[in-house]
Parts: sequence; structure tokens; C-alpha cells
Amino acid sequence: MSDWTATAIACSNIAFVKYWGDQIERLHVPANSSISMNLEGLHTRTQVTFDPQLDEDQLVLNGQILTGTDLQRVSGLLDRVRRISSTKCFASVVTSNNFPTGTGIASSASAFAALSLAATAAVGLKLNERDLSRLARASSGSACRSIPTGFVEWKAGHDDIDSYAVSIAPPHHWDLADCVAIVSQEQKMVGSTEGHILAQTSPLQAARIADSTLRLDLCRRAILERDFSGLANVTELDCHLMHAVMMTSTPPLVYWLPATLAVSSAVQAWRKGGLPVCYTIDAGPNVHVICLGEAAREVVKRLKKIPGVEKVLVARPGGPAKLVS
Ligand code: PMV
Repeated sequence: MSDWTATAIACSNIAFVKYWGDQIERLHVPANSSISMNLEGLHTRTQVTFDPQLDEDQLVLNGQILTGTDLQRVSGLLDRVRRISSTKCFASVVTSNNFPTGTGIASSASAFAALSLAATAAVGLKLNERDLSRLARASSGSACRSIPTGFVEWKAGHDDIDSYAVSIAPPHHWDLADCVAIVSQEQKMVGSTEGHILAQTSPLQAARIADSTLRLDLCRRAILERDFSGLANVTELDCHLMHAVMMTSTPPLVYWLPATLAVSSAVQAWRKGGLPVCYTIDAGPNVHVICLGEAAREVVKRLKKIPGVEKVLVARPGGPAKLVS
């Protein structure tokens, strides 16, 4: 039993067509399909060790012991792994992010993707990519998109079996960069778990979902044809639709700060001026500024000059979740 251990690394991801709202809340079967890019520079590394000496699961994140809801979410995934492997042992989970915590970069996607792979490998299970993606999804929806490589589509499906993510292009397919403009490092007031539930209270959510097939087609095509202008249009439209739903939920969710708008309007002006750049915003105030790789240096330089931008992180298209020794 002492070698029941494995370590995995998984990238975070940024969605061009977003996941917001569920069909089946408990399993994170989403209301619409989504498309994202893995982020090479921003990853989680997780070691899982199943140990017969333990009388409960343990979680250490960036050197700190975590309990409460964080541990419960991790144990939820470990329980699933225990069920499919008939293991009864508890596990110790030691995990770290290579990006600064508290920067508003979603770590749950990379965290639950890395945990799914490390935990199943630790008990000797070799799940295929689809089943790993399903396992990650049940704990944190967007984590299923951090299992396959590069540019990824999460097929919404209708149940636990047919809701999973697949790669639509490898990372080297298109040299894009995500320059994340950090405008606030504060913990968000309402997290995505609660936000997905509130989505259905917005009168705009039904329209957002109904039109999502068209946006997915436009986004997939823009990626496959490396059409930056097509990607920019659909990415910003989809971002605005999600935030319109957030702002019209009951209670309303407004994640933007003045600096969020300063960055997004500057980006639109730069694109009009010929720079291949666009933006998207998740459930927080920070702005993911997407550009062609060749423009990244110029984009970072300009972003750093905008008042309110505290720092800029840069990530390129990333690979799949993988085991490391
Ligand atoms: O997987 P969650 O519950 O963290 O939800 C992710 C929600 C967004 O980041 C706002 C959108 C997305 O598709 O990543």
C-alpha cells in the first residue's frame, strides 16, 4: 500500500464561450456547451497518497493545511475514486499552484483536473480521457476542460455519462497568448458555484442558452481557421452575454470594477487601431486579454500603463493534464 501515490499537473483554462448555469446542479452538467484554451503558464501540481494509517482525508494547499468546505470538495472527488476502485483508504493531498493565489485566477479548474488524474493513478486506475474529464466535471465544471490538450470543447450533454470535454486542436495549432490584467486581488463575494444557481433567475439566461449553438460554431470555426477577428467578435459577445445574465440575476452579480472597464475599452480601441487583441472576463474583475503571440509583448507594455492594473500574467496555449514522477 505504501506506493499508492501519484503526482499530476494540470493547466488552468480560459473560456471563449462560457459555462454559466447548470442542467444538473449536483453533477455540474451545464446548460450549454463551452470552448476554452488551456493556459500553459498557470498550473496546479497535486500529489495524492492513499494511506491506510490515515483516519480522514488531509489537504495541504501551498504549504497550508485546509479543512472545512475546501476539504469537503476534495473528499467528494476522493469518495468517487474510492467507489470506482473499491478502496476504503483515506488520502493525503498535497497541492500547489504555480500562479499567485488571491489573484482571482480560477484555480478550481486546474486543481480538480490535477486531483482527478493523481487520485485515479494513485489507486492504479487508468481512466481514459473522457472518464477523467467526467470525474473532474462532477467536482468543478470547468475542470473537465483542463483534462484534454490545447483548445477544448466541453460537450454539455444531458447527464453524467455524456457531459465531458474533448480537444479540438493541439496547443501548437495557434500561437495565442492570454495576458491576464490583474486589477484586484480580493476574494470574490459570490463564487461560481452560487453563480451557476442564480443564472436561472435572469430573464436573459434562456436567450443566452438558445443562441449558444451559433456562438460555439463561430468560435470552433475561428479557432480551426486561426481567424483572430472571428474569435475576437464571438469571445467578447459571449463575455457580455454572461455578464448581462450575472447583472440581471436576483440578487444581481456585478463583478466589474472601474479598472475592468478601463482595460476592456482600451483593448477595443487597440483592436480598432490594428492590434490583434480582444478580452474576456470570468466571475471576477480581472481581464483576460487574448492576443496573437507576436503581439503579447506590446499588449503587456500597454496594459501595465493603465491605472488600476496591478500586474499582468502571461500564458500560452497549454497541454493536457499529465502525470509527473
Ligand atoms: O467551473 P466553475 O464552477 O468554476 O465555473 C466557471 C465559470 C466561468 O469561469 C465564469 C466560465 C467558464 O466557462 O470558465
